[in-house]
Amino acid sequence: MDGNGRWAQKRGYPRIFGHIRGSARVRLIVRAASELGVKALTLYAFSTENWSRPEGERSVLWRLLKKHLLREADELQRQNVRLRVIGEVERLDPDLQKVVSAVVDKLKNNTGLQLTFAVSYGARSELVRAAQLFSQDCLQGIRSTSDLTESVFERYLWTSVLGDLAGVDLFVRTSGERRMSNFLLWQSAYAECVFIDTCWPDFGPHHLRGAIEEYSRRERRFGGVSAQGPEFTSPHSEDILLK
Ligand code: IPE
Ligand code: MG
Repeated sequence: MDGNGRWAQKRGYPRIFGHIRGSARVRLIVRAASELGVKALTLYAFSTENWSRPEGERSVLWRLLKKHLLREADELQRQNVRLRVIGEVERLDPDLQKVVSAVVDKLKNNTGLQLTFAVSYGARSELVRAAQLFSQDCLQGIRSTSDLTESVFERYLWTSVLGDLAGVDLFVRTSGERRMSNFLLWQSAYAECVFIDTCWPDFGPHHLRGAIEEYSRRERRFGGVSAQGPEFTSPHSEDILLK
C-alpha cells in the first residue's frame, strides 16, 4: 500500500491526510477481495524500515491501525474474515498489541478471506528469524541440520500460519514504484507482479479487479515450458548443435 504521502503532497495536504485516506481504503479493498473470491490477502502496512520515519508519523500510523481494527472488527466478523498480523508484533506499543490480539482472537474461527496485516514486517528479518529458530531447534535436538528442506524452512516463517496459502500468486504495488521493498521475498519467488501507478489512497476495487484480470492473462511456467509450446527438437537441430 504505497503512495499515501505523495497523494497528500500532490494536493497540498500534509502527509498525514494521505495516511487517513489510505487507511480508510483498506475496508473497501478487503470487501472487494472477499467478493472477488480471493482466498488470502496480505497487506504491507508497516515495514521494518518504516521505523526510521519521524515519531509523529509513526504514531499517526499506529493510531489509525488501532482505530480501524476496533471499528471494523464487527464488520469483518460479519464477512467471515479471518485476521492475522505478522511481523515484529512485540515491537508495538503494549496497548496496540492488546487490541491486535483481541481482534485476531475474535475472528479466529472465521473461514472466509484470510486477511493478514504485515506490521513491522521485513522479509530479511523474517528469514533471519527463521534461521535462528531452526538453529535453536537443532541445538535442542528437536531437528537436525539434514532435516532442512524448503518446506521445513517455511514452517519457521511468519507466514507459516497461512499454510498452503502462504505462497504469493499476485503481488500488487501501488504508486508507480517498481520494487519489492523487503516484502514476502521468499513467498514471492514465483509471484506475478503488477505495478499500478495510482497511489494507495485512490486504489479502488476496480484496480484490484484489473490486477486480477492481468494476472489471469499471464502464463505461469514456474521455470518449466509452455504446455502448448513449440517442439524442443527439429529435423535440423543436430546439424545446428554440431556447427
Ligand atoms: C504508504 O505510503 C504507507 C506506509 C508506508 C505506512 P507512504 O507513506 O510510503 O507514501 P509515499 O511513498 O511517501 O508517497
Ligand atoms: Mg512509500
